[in-house]
Amino acid sequence: RDLPEDVDTDDCMTSYTHIYSPDLLKHGCDTVIASRNLEKLTEAAKKLMAATGRRCLPLTIDVRQPQTISAAVDETLKELGRIDILINNAAGNFLCPAISLSFNAFKTVLEIDTMGTFNTSKVVYEKWFKDHGGAIVNISATLGYRGQALQVHAGSAKAANDAMTKHLAVEWGPSGVRVNTLAPGPISGTEGFHRLGGNIADSMGAFSSIPLQRAGNKTEMAHSVLFLASRASSYVTGHIMVADGGSWLTSAND
Ligand code: HXC
Repeated sequence: RDLPEDVDTDDCMTSYTHIYSPDLLKHGCDTVIASRNLEKLTEAAKKLMAATGRRCLPLTIDVRQPQTISAAVDETLKELGRIDILINNAAGNFLCPAISLSFNAFKTVLEIDTMGTFNTSKVVYEKWFKDHGGAIVNISATLGYRGQALQVHAGSAKAANDAMTKHLAVEWGPSGVRVNTLAPGPISGTEGFHRLGGNIADSMGAFSSIPLQRAGNKTEMAHSVLFLASRASSYVTGHIMVADGGSWLTSAND
């Protein structure tokens, strides 16, 4: 099988074969990575800069607190001068039966996944995209399509985000903003994969029921996000693209 290169850790790849034109993002791409943990961000930014030779600015935000997003977007515009792409990738998740899920646990996941996506999209739109256009890519999940057990919190949150994708695509299309979503399946080497028991599922042969009979890899997700974020998808908006090897069709509750 001709799969793209990947690493199973949080390190950058040591080699990469382009599948799109290397100048797909015209002038390359400086990045901002943002989360609550500055230590982890700084380490990741160093690795990214070393691997790409581009700038990577680590900024602390909590997507539940709009003022922290506002400050980060101001800093980004001051340092980099423009924003072309927003990837909404913040998500909280764990396996938990509905009966054991505290009211606060459900609320926390909705606040991170759903309100966090709205808060960040709105701030970036107000401060830059409204006048310059841009591309938003949300990261979703297929959990709600068939009601995956132990995932009522994340599945409900992501279903709301899928609706939000369409609402914002309609409202912001006239400003030249495209809003799309990628819904990955099980992706090896990710926090979600470890937390949700991916390695155990793999060793028990659970992935054989997936039509493509394997987990996906991070580079495959990057290629999908790059498609949605770049001019390769210039006439695509309001779309939820599933990249899960056909997984949700056959294996919602294995
Ligand atoms: C049950 C839990 C819990 C768990 C936290 N809570 N972890 N309940 N099981 N494992 C409850 C807490 O008891 C508390 O409720 C409430 O959630 C809030 O927890 P806090 O720790 O106070 O909040 P906070 O630190 O802000 O957020 C917790 C968190 C977050 C949501 C667990 O730290 C988190 O998820 N981090 C991991 C990020 C991550 O891995 N993202 C990738 C997701 S992958 P009480 O009532 O006690 O106050 C993904 C892919 C899915 O989503 C698709 C795969 C196929």
